[in-house]
Amino acid sequence: MIKISDITEMRRLALSWRQKGLKTVLVPTMGFFHQGHLSLMDMARSLGQKVVVSLFVNPAQFGPAEDLDKYPRDIERDVRLAEQHGVDCIFIPDASDIYNAQHQTWIEVTEVSRGLCGASRPGHFRGVATVVAKLFNIVQPDMAVFGEKDFQQLQVIRTMVRDLDIPVEIKSHPTVREPDGLAMSSRNSYLSPEERKTAVCLFRAIQLARKMIADGERNRETVVKRLYELIHSYKDAKVDYIFLGDPETLAENSHISPPALLALAVYVNRTRLIDNCIISAD
Ligand code: PAF
Repeated sequence: MIKISDITEMRRLALSWRQKGLKTVLVPTMGFFHQGHLSLMDMARSLGQKVVVSLFVNPAQFGPAEDLDKYPRDIERDVRLAEQHGVDCIFIPDASDIYNAQHQTWIEVTEVSRGLCGASRPGHFRGVATVVAKLFNIVQPDMAVFGEKDFQQLQVIRTMVRDLDIPVEIKSHPTVREPDGLAMSSRNSYLSPEERKTAVCLFRAIQLARKMIADGERNRETVVKRLYELIHSYKDAKVDYIFLGDPETLAENSHISPPALLALAVYVNRTRLIDNCIISAD
């Protein structure tokens, strides 16, 4: 596996593959790999001939009061794991190269960035869209793989690629879960053993919503109210938002018309966790 931090070098390598007709798949990450990331790499491996994993903790997607400095990092372990999963190149750029001192260009995907996490984290998706567009420009992959756990992020990226005619095919991988249902996330490492027990409340809420809708409930407020009650019955859990609405437009309606997206963010003390699922009619 080749390890690169220089943008020009990364561009050169990707170009040499392209000239040989090799299909390149990019997996953008912020590192601290768990099984979710490794599944994205395995999927990328099955999709193309060359796999690039980018590892960049993107300052532009963290708010001033967020966890940029304490975001978990273990680059040595990440490099080892990427190599074990057949990655051809790991790209670890410096923040000062990605954002030069005069950087002033930002990508704003308006509608789909607005609600859900966009409402709680102003500027977050602008930072995500900008860095992903930059990574696409540097690596020029044929495809890129993202996890469905960040459902809104996936919609933002798909919208950006469509609107800006970016020639990259976006692929998604289902959320990978712990045995008790907790969605894998680098942020799970912040949880104490007690908080880890509480964290299962997101998956329990998903299960409850699925059951209520399967049993015929179609009133959004009724379902959402029950989910609030369930989550707040767990120690130190506080709902940030619960969204139940259209998976494409990310608009909410008082009547639930499956397939519906349930997406939620919950604080377990200071750790903010997210999860989602698509709920069909049966
Ligand atoms: O999902 C992530 O880890 C990040 O938001 C991404 C897509 C790598 C952009 O920084």
